[in-house]
Amino acid sequence: MPKLIVVNRSGEETTVEADSGLTVMEIIRDNGFDELLALCGGCCSCATCHVHVDPDFAGSLPEMDEDENDLLDSSDHRDENSRLSCQIPFEDDLDGLKVTIAQED
Ligand code: FES
Repeated sequence: MPKLIVVNRSGEETTVEADSGLTVMEIIRDNGFDELLALCGGCCSCATCHVHVDPDFAGSLPEMDEDENDLLDSSDHRDENSRLSCQIPFEDDLDGLKVTIAQED
């Protein structure tokens, strides 16, 4: 099964098995990382699922749409690797993807 590597806010790295068909947010949430609030449940309206994505995978991710971009602008912790994890469907070709949970705004 493909793997997702999750780095929490303390810098601890955990590898979890990832079902393709779920979003990265759902995989993180389902594995008990309560730092990732994902308050809107994946509707792209809260930005509490903000992660920093390993730049090596940037070319494999879906394009960011305008809503995601606007929401990320509301974060003080946005950088060039920021994404909303609910907007990234996990597919087998993302095996080994590393995401770091963004600091809380
Ligand atoms: S869960 Fe709310 S924007 Fe991703």
